Amino acid sequence: MKGVVLAGGTGSRLRPLTNIINKHLLPVGDLPMIQYAIEKLSKAGIQDVLLITGKQSAGLYLEYLGGGDKFGVRLTYKLQEKAGGIAEALALADAFIQPGEKFVVLLGDNLFEDSLVPMIDTFKNQLEGAMVILKEVADPRRYGVACMKDGIIQRIDEKPEHPTSQYAVTGIYLFDSAVFDIMKTQTPSNRGELEITDVNNVYAAAGKLSHGFFSGWWIDAGTHESLFQATLFLRKEDS
Ligand code: DAU
Repeated sequence: MKGVVLAGGTGSRLRPLTNIINKHLLPVGDLPMIQYAIEKLSKAGIQDVLLITGKQSAGLYLEYLGGGDKFGVRLTYKLQEKAGGIAEALALADAFIQPGEKFVVLLGDNLFEDSLVPMIDTFKNQLEGAMVILKEVADPRRYGVACMKDGIIQRIDEKPEHPTSQYAVTGIYLFDSAVFDIMKTQTPSNRGELEITDVNNVYAAAGKLSHGFFSGWWIDAGTHESLFQATLFLRKEDS
């Protein structure tokens, strides 16, 4: 299976740090944030990785990650011209994934404790469709939230004011190659972005969206507070 890491976007919630550097190069614990995603994939046996990022800091990624051999992966790079949404970035992976191939996507600002191996193994046995990983959180309003019935995701609500569950949809997605056809039919949301949640909802409506759960810690390090929290989690893990 191949892996795709999304590391574009504007990082607006981390300004002024992100005025000068792309979010995924900021330090978390002892490392630049991006290294965690690359190493999670590498440790799960994924060798072919596409990294999608914006123009800001593109040269720094090359300088730090190079061809990926130091991290046990073969890295390919693709540039997202402007931050048009997670699904817009993902659509750039079209030529990297062969028809009929399954793959895993990590949002580069998602840090987590669990191994990807069980999820990948489960998804390999899923005939078609997509899979998301859920984590129970105290305040789900910052995230996509899974609306569940009889243990099945009916739909995902993006940053709802009134969440129907405590289950945040994390930034770890597994897709079949049909995702590229779905993305071709998408239109921008109210905030002008192509939303990954809309993509997942097409799978949910077709009864093709499965899910797993994270048992360890998970954090979306996209704010000053959560970036700080992430460092604390990682430091604790190391000690
Ligand atoms: O962290 C999990 C959440 O991530 C999910 O629960 C939400 O459903 C999902 O929409 C997403 O929400 P965020 O508001 O946190 O997304 P953000 O704009 O911070 O982007 C997440 C990652 O995707 C980030 O690492 C950068 C990358 N990205 C984002 C955009 C908008 C791109 O590569 N290109 C983009 O244009």
